[in-house]
Amino acid sequence: MPSKFHLYQLSVQSPKGDISYLQKFFLMYVGGRAPLHLQEDFCGTALLSTEWIRTDARRTAIGLDLDLESLEWCLENNLSKIGADGYSRMLLFHGNVLQPMESRLVKQKFTNLVHGLDLNSNNGTGSNSCKQMGLADSKCLANLTMSEADFPARDIICAFNYSCCCLHSRKDLVLYFRHVRSVLSERGGIFVMDVYGGISSERKLRLQRKFPSFTYFWEQDEFDIISRQTRISLHFQGGKKQMMRYAFTYHWRLWSIPEIKDCLEEAGFKWVHVWMRECQIPSQVETPRSITPTGT
Ligand SMILES: C[S@@+](CC[C@H](N)C(=O)[O-])C[C@H]1O[C@@H](n2cnc3c(N)ncnc32)[C@H](O)[C@@H]1O
Repeated sequence: MPSKFHLYQLSVQSPKGDISYLQKFFLMYVGGRAPLHLQEDFCGTALLSTEWIRTDARRTAIGLDLDLESLEWCLENNLSKIGADGYSRMLLFHGNVLQPMESRLVKQKFTNLVHGLDLNSNNGTGSNSCKQMGLADSKCLANLTMSEADFPARDIICAFNYSCCCLHSRKDLVLYFRHVRSVLSERGGIFVMDVYGGISSERKLRLQRKFPSFTYFWEQDEFDIISRQTRISLHFQGGKKQMMRYAFTYHWRLWSIPEIKDCLEEAGFKWVHVWMRECQIPSQVETPRSITPTGT
C-alpha cells in the first residue's frame, strides 16, 4: 500500500478548488491587490500551500502543524516536486496553533533564501543575524522559532478540513482566532475555515468512496450531544486483504456556526460571512460542508 499521507491527499483534499475559493473570497471581501502570502494552519502535509506557491512564483506560504511526521513527509514528497525555489518560498513550522510563535522551523534541505520570507533571526544571541550571514549556514535556521522570523503579514490564513474542531474549548478557539488576526495584513486579509453540521451529522456516520486502486472510509463514532464531541477515523483498503485501519484518528468538537461567529467577533474580526453547501444524504452518508471566510 502507498503511504497513508498519499492516500489521504487523494481521498480528502482538492487544493485547486480550495485555492479558487480563497482567491474569490479575497477578491470579494478585500480586493485591490492579488493575495500573495498564505498561512495554512493545521496544514498536515501542506498540499494546499505547495499548490499555492507552485501556481504563482510571487507567492509565499507558511504551514503550521503539531504532527512532525506529516510536515517531513511534505518536504520529501510534495515540496520536493517543485524544485529548490519552492524551499525558499514555503516554510513549515512544527508546533501548536495555540502557541504559534513558539513553533519551530522544520529542517529542510535548502534553507537558503527568501523570496518574501525574510528569515532574520538572532538565534537568541542578539548578534547572529541569518540575514547578515546570507543564510548560507543552514544550522543558523535549525532552531528558528516563528517569533524569530520576520514574515510578511498574511493576506490569507486558512484552517481546512474541519481542523478547528481539534480545539475543544471556547477559550482555545478564541485564543486561536486572536493569533490568526494578529498576523493578518493590516491592508486587509481573510481567515477561511470550514465546518460541517446539521442534525444529520449528529450521529454515527460512515462514508465510503471508491478510487481505482483503493477504497477510502470515513467513520464518525457516536456523537455526544452534551460535549458535542466525537471521534473520526479514516481507513483505507487496497486489495481484498490490504486494510489500513485507523490510518488517521481525530477527536473533534463539532462547533456550530453561531458559536464560531461569536468567537471570531470576540477575537476582533469585523465581518463574518458564511457560505453553505447542502449535501444530500442518500444511501451513502456524506458530510455537509460550509465555509466561513472572514474579513479583518
Ligand atoms: C483534519 S487534519 C487537516 C489536515 C489538512 N489541513 C487538510 O486540509 O486535510 C487536522 C490536522 O491538524 C493538526 N492539529 C491538530 N491540533 C493541532 C494544534 N493544536 N496545533 C497544530 N496542529 C494541530 C493535526 O496534526 C492534523 O494534521
